[in-house]
Amino acid sequence: MSGETKEELLRIRDLVVEYDTDEDVVQAVNHIDLQLGKGETLGLVGETGAGKTTIAKAILRILPDPPSRVKAGEIYFEGKDILKLSEGKMRKIRGNKIAMIFQDPMTALNPIETVGSQIAEAIGLHEKLSKAEVQKRAVDMLEMVGIPGERYGEYPHQFSGGMKQRVVIAMALACRPELLLADEPTTALDVTIQAQVLDMMESLKEKLNTSMILITHDLGIVAGMCDRVAVVYAGEIVEQGTTEEVFDFPGHPYTLGLFQSLPRLDSTEKRLKPINGLMPDPTNLPEGCKFYDRCPYACEKCKEKEAEMREYRPGHFVRCIRQGGEK
Ligand SMILES: Nc1ncnc2c1ncn2[C@@H]1O[C@H](COP(=O)(O)OP(=O)(O)OP(=O)(O)O)[C@@H](O)[C@H]1O
Ligand SMILES: [Mg+2]
Repeated sequence: MSGETKEELLRIRDLVVEYDTDEDVVQAVNHIDLQLGKGETLGLVGETGAGKTTIAKAILRILPDPPSRVKAGEIYFEGKDILKLSEGKMRKIRGNKIAMIFQDPMTALNPIETVGSQIAEAIGLHEKLSKAEVQKRAVDMLEMVGIPGERYGEYPHQFSGGMKQRVVIAMALACRPELLLADEPTTALDVTIQAQVLDMMESLKEKLNTSMILITHDLGIVAGMCDRVAVVYAGEIVEQGTTEEVFDFPGHPYTLGLFQSLPRLDSTEKRLKPINGLMPDPTNLPEGCKFYDRCPYACEKCKEKEAEMREYRPGHFVRCIRQGGEK
């Protein structure tokens, strides 16, 4: 982990994504800005429905259309706005330069195909290699994620949950993507296996110099794996900075709430304080601060106008009028 500036790989500007439902429009992602350097890991945290998966799917351009729509914004990947690329060009990027581990990884595997052939297929789709080379690469990938190459010909049901997850990670990394979007990659696993799989992801990422956006509810995982963190609330980023900064000097009341609702080893506080209330209805978002109803520090001004993202400490941005974000 380091705070130095790295060469930029991804930059999202003013991204807006909506979903149409029968009666309403869900404002899932609202004017998001993000950037990611080469080899860097960015954590996206926030509660359910905040818009995290939607951001990842927008980057990979796999949002269902309909009902969703990228209403505004730009997503620059290696300097090009991928939202403007043809579907043919995008297909070359998907899996090859940008890969995703889905929130429910168990469904990513085909039950009637061997794990080896599924990894081989992912490689063969994107690289011009001979059959033997593809197979060898697939065996290497299996071994890289800690599964003996001899198990190439086995089917997903012959593997434990943690091993299946390793296979999914091997598939995602098989083409050596520049960017890995990992959406809650270990949520379905029990805690001990979780730690193993995360350790493995971390070392593979280092080895292959992959950049990663790691989506998680777990601030412990962020602390262990991420260089920077962005806190998402009601489709907006409310705080962003290096992991160290955000953990040591959380500036948004929502981030503070997230920390207070978690057990911390370094705290003598016996009681955890959950954040009361719910996120606002995404089909009917308030004009002012989206956290207003739940915020212990809210004042009248917050209700009227939303704060802008402001640099609250060097390189650390917060969207709150208490931290100078008044418009
Ligand atoms: N296909 C869809 N049609 C309509 N609304 C959708 C669709 N997919 C997501 N949404 C809505 O968009 C918003 C953002 O959803 P998203 O899945 O991005 O959240 P998330 O932060 O990934 O949540 P979680 O932590 O539960 O995975 C939510 O209000 C959700 O209900
Ligand atoms: Mg999600």
